[in-house]
Amino acid sequence: MKIAMFDTRAYDRAAFEAANASFGHAITFFDVRLTEDTALLARGHECVCCFVADRLGASALETLHAAGVRLVALRSAGYNNVDLVAAARLGLPVVRVPEYSPHAVAEHAVGLVLALNRKIHRAYARVREWNFSLEGLVGFDLYGKTIGIVGTGRIGLAAARVFRGFGCRVLGFDLHPAPDAANAIGFEYVSLPTLFAESDVISLHVPLTPATYHMIDAAALATMKPGVFLINTGRGALIDSSALIQALKRGHIGAAGLDVYEEEEGIFFEDLSNRVLQDDVLARLLTFPNVIITAHQAFLTREALGNIATTTLENVSAFERGQPLVNQVRAEDVLRPSVPA
Ligand code: NAI
Repeated sequence: MKIAMFDTRAYDRAAFEAANASFGHAITFFDVRLTEDTALLARGHECVCCFVADRLGASALETLHAAGVRLVALRSAGYNNVDLVAAARLGLPVVRVPEYSPHAVAEHAVGLVLALNRKIHRAYARVREWNFSLEGLVGFDLYGKTIGIVGTGRIGLAAARVFRGFGCRVLGFDLHPAPDAANAIGFEYVSLPTLFAESDVISLHVPLTPATYHMIDAAALATMKPGVFLINTGRGALIDSSALIQALKRGHIGAAGLDVYEEEEGIFFEDLSNRVLQDDVLARLLTFPNVIITAHQAFLTREALGNIATTTLENVSAFERGQPLVNQVRAEDVLRPSVPA
């Protein structure tokens, strides 16, 4: 099948070219993101393959459909960037990669906690300047601390397992608790207010939905323990960034590790080092010594890239052969995001 793959980088191409040796699809790699302005590039392809920064709103989907596209294959787990209602109206199935490596994302979340706590980012810069002083680098033992996992799906459970390995007490919150997994891993489910009030570290692993949009707002931040570490590898808009800045300025939040940012589109994945950063909220966040921002890289391991490529190409092959689309996402499966798609 002819696939137009948008927003690709060298690592995407390498992983897909390797995996495609066993599938034989005809892939055209585009650097640009898919938007309503670039959708026409897909003309002549039956499938578009997209990532998290591609914008599949109603208008882009209509252009794709008119250009002959019959399948939207997301190479991500999240699908909040797709107008699933419009896709259903156009009869465009949307498939995704529900799981490629929960460990990749969970381990990155834990990495952010360790770096922030032991101030590794500051120590690295210091030692390179031959400043071997330890002033200001005091951290705490993770052993015995309380970790709140918001969203105990695949990634949340993987994170819970790692934190239990550190000897932490782990609290979980989820709309659909997994009591057997909680027993096996050794964590307890609590209400969200209890999790906020008792956790020393809070790590977000829920999808972006109307219910989770800005779930960490000024009111939620105020109920958290002073000095709490807030880690977000979920989606940027889970956190009201302006409220987070205020809480960081007050010193209420001990540290923030953010792999996602609500306005990341058009910034993350790009080299803007020769430009003036136009996003004042992101610029302010970058000034805090106790904030580490990574540009949506939690998924970026060899294993995850290989799994993403294989599952995406399997999804495309299943569509081509008229087989059931086991990884299809439908409008009725999810509530619409309350942010523009
Ligand atoms: P999952 O579907 O296995 O787990 C999500 C969990 O969140 C489920 O248990 C669900 O019941 C729960 N949930 C949904 N809405 C909720 C609500 N309103 N309140 C409480 N719990 C709620 O998803 P998975 O694979 O664990 O991924 C989680 C999220 O991580 C994805 O939706 C995606 O946004 C993000 N992600 C980020 C990546 C990165 O590179 N930074 C890579 C992959 C995923």
